[in-house]
Order: sequence, then C-alpha cells, then structure tokens
Amino acid sequence: MKITVIGAGNVGATAALRIAEKQLAREVVLIDIVEGIPQGKALDMYESGPVALFDTMVRGSNDYADSSDSDIVLITAGLARKPGMSREDLLMKNTAIIKDVTTQVMKYSSNPILIMVSNPLDVMTFVAHTVSGLKPERVIGMAGVLDTARFRSFIAEALNVSMQDINAFVLGGHGDSMVPVVKYTNVAGIPLTELLPMETINSIVERTKNGGIEIVNHLKTGSAFYAPAASAVEMIESIVKDRKRILPCTTCLGGQYGINNVFCGVPVKLGKEGVEQILEINLADNELKALQASAAIVEKNCKSLASAI
Ligand code: NAI
Ligand code: 2OP
Repeated sequence: MKITVIGAGNVGATAALRIAEKQLAREVVLIDIVEGIPQGKALDMYESGPVALFDTMVRGSNDYADSSDSDIVLITAGLARKPGMSREDLLMKNTAIIKDVTTQVMKYSSNPILIMVSNPLDVMTFVAHTVSGLKPERVIGMAGVLDTARFRSFIAEALNVSMQDINAFVLGGHGDSMVPVVKYTNVAGIPLTELLPMETINSIVERTKNGGIEIVNHLKTGSAFYAPAASAVEMIESIVKDRKRILPCTTCLGGQYGINNVFCGVPVKLGKEGVEQILEINLADNELKALQASAAIVEKNCKSLASAI
C-alpha cells in the first residue's frame, strides 16, 4: 500500500503522521509546491518512527513522479480559510490548484482512490472527479466525518458521556447548509431526543454548523486541522483494511435522495474499492428538503466552474 498526501500544510502533514503511526501504508509520500517543506516534515516524521514505533517509510518531495503507483492519494493542497472568508471565497483559487494537482497525480498513478479535503469540499471533489476521469466511487470527499465528529463531541460534552457511544450523521454539503440528522442520532442506542431537550439539541446543531468558523476565529491565521486529519485517516483506514465502515462522505449521487449527478455528503459503505454502496436512509421531510437545498448550492457552484475546468 502506497499513500500520497498532496499538501504538506496543517491538514496534510498531520494526516501523513497519523497514517504512518497507524502503519496504514508501507510508504507515505508527502508532496507540496513549496521546496523543502515536504522533505523536512517527512524526514522529521520518519525519524519519530523508533520512538512512536512504526516502520512506515515517509518521504517528502516536490516532484509528482515520487507519487507513482499510489493506491490512495489524499488531496489537501490549497488555500485555507481566514477570518471573514467563506468556503465559497476559496472556490476559484482552489479550483485552479485542484485541477493542476489532479492532472499531475493522474500522470503517475493509473487508478488511485482520491480522498479530497481542499475546500469548498464538495465542489473540489467534483473538480477532481472531472479532471481525473476516475470512476465516481474512487473520488471521495471528506467533510461528513469531520462535521459528525464535531456533532458527536458536543453531544458527549453536553451529556458527560463517552464520545464512543454517540452515533450520528451530518449530511449535505460542507458549509452552512450541512444537515445534522437528529432523527438518526443516538447514545448507545437511546434516541438523542429522549436524553436532551430540543432547545439544547438545536443549539448543538447550530454549533456544529459553525464548527469550522469557531476554530478559524480562535486561530485567526488558518483553519482546523487535527479533527480534519483524523477524519480523513478514518476514511483511509476503512479503505486500506476493507472494513466497509458506514461513514458520511461526499460522493456522486445518482438519483438517491432525489439528487442526480451532484457530489454531496451521504452515508456510504467505504471499502477497498472506495464507495461500495450509497445508503439511502429515510429522512424526515425537513431533513430531506435541507439535504436537497444543500445539494442545489453545490450544483450551482459546480455549474459556475464550467469554463474553468
Ligand atoms: P495549509 O495552508 O496549512 O496547507 C495547504 C498546503 O497546500 C500548503 O503547504 C501549500 O504550500 C500547499 N499547496 C498550495 N498550492 C499547492 C499546489 N498547487 N500543489 C501542491 N501543494 C500546494 O492549509 P490546511 O489547513 O492544511 O488546509 C488545506 C485545505 O483543506 C484548505 O483548502 C482548507 O480549507 C481545507 N480543509 C477542508 C476541511 C474539510 O472538512 N473538507 C477541513 C480542514 C481544511
Ligand atoms: C472546517 O470545517 C475549514 O472546512 C474546514 O474546519
């Protein structure tokens, strides 16, 4: 198993280290446009192997030839949000970056699975799919796992219970229109609505929707990266180990939820072939409408890029 991480910034470097520490690959290649950064970070990670107890080879490079024959490519290259900047502000700049990165990746790997992180996430997943020519099940966006992790952590905090026992789904596009699905949220099987008053649930839903900006407002010079990296690696682990986890991921819908040919976050089964199944769960009317509205925003942004890709 060879995994390449494009973008040696906050998310990329953190993810590369987690992949190495979990020994999910024999080799991790970290690639960035800035000379020296991927080489220095990769060597530093590799040197932590004897202490952190892993044997994964970690190498850094500015040359895509070093990514050749990758099984999985995690794409985190691009600009991150600054205070006052929406994910959509990133649209045009990151489209150009993702177009270039995907073209380079596909020169050296014939059939990789691409895991997208760069924002605006759902649109960048569409761009990578269009440019790569890969089957849609092999181009997957990471956002739902992160948004759901935020939702789960806030619920665990409110109830003072283990995070492990919180099961939830946040669906839709990665942005203000995301849809935390309260109907399917439970704590060790007990519906959330039996444990918390609706007022508290609603405030947790709102905090989840603003989870990204809450971190940006603290950091001021960048956006979240520990939880995003952990979320991307959870997806990679399910693929590498063919665990067939059911995780909320951005995938190309083909009529499910009344949404056609749009990349949007829904529950999927993740295994060695990528998205092996899209699960169509029975949503409450307001949740289905919110999911469709969220997909419509993604579709509009994708259409606005017609001449750019
Ligand atoms: P960062 O600024 O720390 O790292 C980005 C890296 O990409 C930099 O090292 C930069 O040199 C590199 N880069 C820029 N253009 C490149 C190119 N053409 N080729 C190769 N490398 C290039 O940013 P961070 O925090 O790692 O975030 C990366 C992206 O991920 C951003 O777009 C951010 O908005 C997005 N993001 C998405 C999340 C999600 O849930 N989908 C969560 C967190 C971040
Ligand atoms: C987040 O949600 C920046 O999209 C990123 O933290």
